[in-house]
Amino acid sequence: MSQEKASNRMWGGRFASGPDAVMEAINASIGFDRKLYAQDIRGSLAHAAMLAKTGIISAEDEKKIAEGLNAILAEIEEGKFAFSTKLEDIHMNVEARLAELIGPAAGRLHTARSRNDQVAVDFRLWVKEELQRIDAALGRLIEALLSRAEEHAATVMPGFTHLQAAQPVTFGHHLMAYVEMFGRDRSRVRDAIARLDECPLGAAALAGTSFPIDRHMTAEALGFREPTRNSIDSVSDRDFALEFLAVAAICATHLSRLAEEIVIWSTPQFGFIRLSDAFSTGSSIMPQKKNPDAAELIRAKTGRVNGHLIGLLTVMKGLPLAYSKDMQEDKEAVFDAAETLDLMLAAMTGMVGDMEVNAAAMRKAAGAGFSTATDLADWLVREAGLPFREAHHVTGRAVALAEEKKCGLEKLPLADLQAIHPAITEGVYSVLSVANSVKSRTSYGGTAPSEVRKQIRAWRKRLKRDARPHKNR
Ligand code: ARG
Repeated sequence: MSQEKASNRMWGGRFASGPDAVMEAINASIGFDRKLYAQDIRGSLAHAAMLAKTGIISAEDEKKIAEGLNAILAEIEEGKFAFSTKLEDIHMNVEARLAELIGPAAGRLHTARSRNDQVAVDFRLWVKEELQRIDAALGRLIEALLSRAEEHAATVMPGFTHLQAAQPVTFGHHLMAYVEMFGRDRSRVRDAIARLDECPLGAAALAGTSFPIDRHMTAEALGFREPTRNSIDSVSDRDFALEFLAVAAICATHLSRLAEEIVIWSTPQFGFIRLSDAFSTGSSIMPQKKNPDAAELIRAKTGRVNGHLIGLLTVMKGLPLAYSKDMQEDKEAVFDAAETLDLMLAAMTGMVGDMEVNAAAMRKAAGAGFSTATDLADWLVREAGLPFREAHHVTGRAVALAEEKKCGLEKLPLADLQAIHPAITEGVYSVLSVANSVKSRTSYGGTAPSEVRKQIRAWRKRLKRDARPHKNR
């Protein structure tokens, strides 16, 4: 690229000298917004085509502009483009290069447009594409969870409240809880896409334009559902970025909870799962160790994603309408959150897919801690007609006795149980084993293997339905 003039050649008309170096450093966004190059060029191509169609520029100029923009796209993709900090951002870098390539016709591209609507459209396009990537990644994670859940639909494990063993559940059921969570994330992603699917291009600086532009044409060409309705809102709105970060933060929080469980499950004390070598690391000093680093980092990176949401909310909260340069700070937050979340999703999908499940350890733990006490109480209500409160009390005495005898509830002799309450019969043993306990919880959404399998089937159908391709031109 040729040497820049002292003042900025894009807006330097009224400036006698160029900016101070510090001014240039604080002002420039090219270091990060170069990521928007493809969207910027796509937006410019659509804008130029519309300007020609409406007779605002000549067909000949449009042809030159389009050829120049495509040449720039190739230069950037081949790593041959010289980005310049003096030219501030991606928009001016591209336009300056266009002028070098095609001469004065380049100056017509910015007719009826401002960088304010330009950046808004570029960034929306980028966020939309990223949301589509996350949608697909969530689909892969849900698939991985579903196949592990199916494998372990009848594998009993302790279910926890307060991280204290509460009632036996199946591992498949537990994994399906995450399917529900990531399924909600996916539907939030789709909601966010639907809401941002409006094209701000043509709002110009903030007030619209006196040129006879066709905003429906550019909206359609760029794959948006429709143009935005208010030019002031069009250039001052960053809801789509905030919503992206909110969706990302909630999803990261879900990933973090699963990561935390993986950390707990893979401790030798629990021993419920073993991570594959591919998703764990060793210790440089303790040869016996296998550390769940990927899970720990997923847990930690959630802090970063959540931080970006608070960061951008704070940037936006005091801004008067319409555009302010503050809004340039939106990009790094979104880019970093996106890159981080992509990695977290991929790592989690990998870990879930190849973790080794120790069903025997889960079963053993499921039986500990009198986990079928509620089943005994329920049995007393159902079979002996006791009020639940009394059944609770009777069961408490049985638990105390089992504790004293250092055995499980199912190992208490019938005579001992009958001494606590005479209505107890042989039949009670059918609910005291964890397998029977789990099998009996057939309420809708309950942990019975038959119910879990039903939900897995329903999710498989739903995934198929959700897989229909996005409308994206
Ligand atoms: N680099 C700017 C941003 O990211 C582009 C818009 C600048 N508009 C302006 N009037 N200075 O927000």
